[in-house]
Amino acid sequence: MCGIIGYVGGRDVPSVLLGGLWRLEYRGYDSSGIAVISNGELIVRKVPGKLSELEELIKRKPVHGTIGVGHTRWATHGLPQENNTHPLLDCNEEMALVVNGIIENYVALKDELEGKGHIFRSLTDSEVIVHLIEEYLKKGLAEAVKLTVRRLNGNFAFAVISAGERNRLVCARHDAPLICCYNSKEAAVASDISGVVSIFDEVIHIPNDSIVVLGRGKCTITNFQGKEIKVPAQKVSIEVGDIDKGHFPHFMAKEIFEQPKVLHNIVSERIIDSRIHPGDELGLSNDELKKVSRIVIQACGTSWHAGLVGKYLIEKFARIHTEVDISSEFRYRDAVLDSDTLVMAISQSGETADTIAGLREAKVKFLKVLSLVNVVQSSIHRESDGIIEILAGPEIGVASTKAYTAEIVNLYFFALYIGLLRGFVNKAELTKHFTALKKVPVQVEQILQLDAQIKEIAEIFCDSRDFLFLGRGLNYATALEGALKLKEISYINATGYAAGEMKHGPIALIDSKMPIVCINPRSSVYEKMLNNIQEVITRKGIPICIVTRGDRRTRTVSKHSILIPECLEYVSPILSVVPLQLLAYHIATLKGLDVDRPRNLAKSVTVE
Ligand code: F6R
Repeated sequence: MCGIIGYVGGRDVPSVLLGGLWRLEYRGYDSSGIAVISNGELIVRKVPGKLSELEELIKRKPVHGTIGVGHTRWATHGLPQENNTHPLLDCNEEMALVVNGIIENYVALKDELEGKGHIFRSLTDSEVIVHLIEEYLKKGLAEAVKLTVRRLNGNFAFAVISAGERNRLVCARHDAPLICCYNSKEAAVASDISGVVSIFDEVIHIPNDSIVVLGRGKCTITNFQGKEIKVPAQKVSIEVGDIDKGHFPHFMAKEIFEQPKVLHNIVSERIIDSRIHPGDELGLSNDELKKVSRIVIQACGTSWHAGLVGKYLIEKFARIHTEVDISSEFRYRDAVLDSDTLVMAISQSGETADTIAGLREAKVKFLKVLSLVNVVQSSIHRESDGIIEILAGPEIGVASTKAYTAEIVNLYFFALYIGLLRGFVNKAELTKHFTALKKVPVQVEQILQLDAQIKEIAEIFCDSRDFLFLGRGLNYATALEGALKLKEISYINATGYAAGEMKHGPIALIDSKMPIVCINPRSSVYEKMLNNIQEVITRKGIPICIVTRGDRRTRTVSKHSILIPECLEYVSPILSVVPLQLLAYHIATLKGLDVDRPRNLAKSVTVE
């Protein structure tokens, strides 16, 4: 959450900062600002509201300089209004600070600093940082930052510039992401690579708990105790085009339509010479995997839903007892974890605070953690014993789409892999699954061709107040995910439920105005689900059914049906979610909402 950027060098600093902020905007977008040092003076431009308003302000009131910092905010403490917008300044307005994170002990620090005469202008927790640095500044900016970070509890990444030291940026991170880049002419720091991708082709992933002093041709990284750390730079693995909307009106649309390509790549990477290739970074030997007697998957949001599908697949193919927990629950519940339990984290961003905490909780108990992660070199990637790369490519849309289907396909391969090792999957079955998985990209392509039909359904129901999503078995997770997609971008109250649970309460919600999305592809629970659809109809609810082509029985009882191709039951959650992504997308855009910037949300949830 919150995007931070800093730059020193010969380019037009406000343009570099703004360019970076546009690409980091998915991290938070309720206010934004920049500060530039111009002829020894700190000049600040900031606005509550959209980044385009900051751009307008800078056009109206241009600034120039050779060093600056910028910020796009997702508010935690303090409303999105100008005084709370970063950069935050010290009392003398000589230093500018941009922060991502939460300072948990800010109240005590603020009391202490106010007692010493510091004047606070915002209601943010982070403002204490700049005043602490100011307090220690006599020792120089880098030393002041070192003394400051020792006083902070919580998680943070920040960059600070000072009018007194015009050639360097000083940055620090503790449990929040930060990268930097430099060459002989210029240097930059950002929350992630997308902030600097247009300028640098090498990046340094700043280690946790370290401080960086960054300038043209220099980058010194020390830990919080002051010991220097050498960190090699790595090639930037993405291009500007990867984080561009292309010809699509929204990132979300682009990413939905990218799914055939993404899924094709994953299938090609994972099936090599008729064998499963789970990647080179599993971090567990086959013998270790064979010994696993229990798996605990922990993740948040959409990744948690993928985990629910993973549970069905792992239990089915590998016969290993698998639990799926929401990371924010798992981290605090002191779960019973035996030595032969494998903990798995699933995360697109690799920076979700609760999922990282869950991973650490497992490591404290000396358990191995195998994570599915999309962003390489993210915290979850680096802290896990092993990883399976999700291979979805950069996902910018706040509503996760392609990462979800990519996570499921990877879990499918992992379940088969471990099932083979344990002797529960034979060669003939493996061939059957490979054939089914190889068809998935084309089948998703076919579903995407139903876009116009799905838009028509969206037009009928876009003014509905509430939606219910029902599914069973593997598609219970699809119901949860369909409801999450709809509510997060359309703000319609949408509930996902296991269809068999409907009678135990939610059935009371159903009336003649309520659309109920029923996910019923051909499967082992098809008949049961059909009964649930009948129960919906009997209560005058309006079913919108996701069914397999050729299924007449569901279609005769439901006016609105979306047909997905014939597939193995295990593949069905990958296919059946695609129409729901499109449905949510069209409903939200028909309501005139900005699907890439849904209110109150941000893409990467780096605070708990
Ligand atoms: C919903 C969505 C979120 C994320 C969740 C976990 O569309 O994107 O629910 O899935 O915040 O994020 P990652 O996977 O990055 O850990």
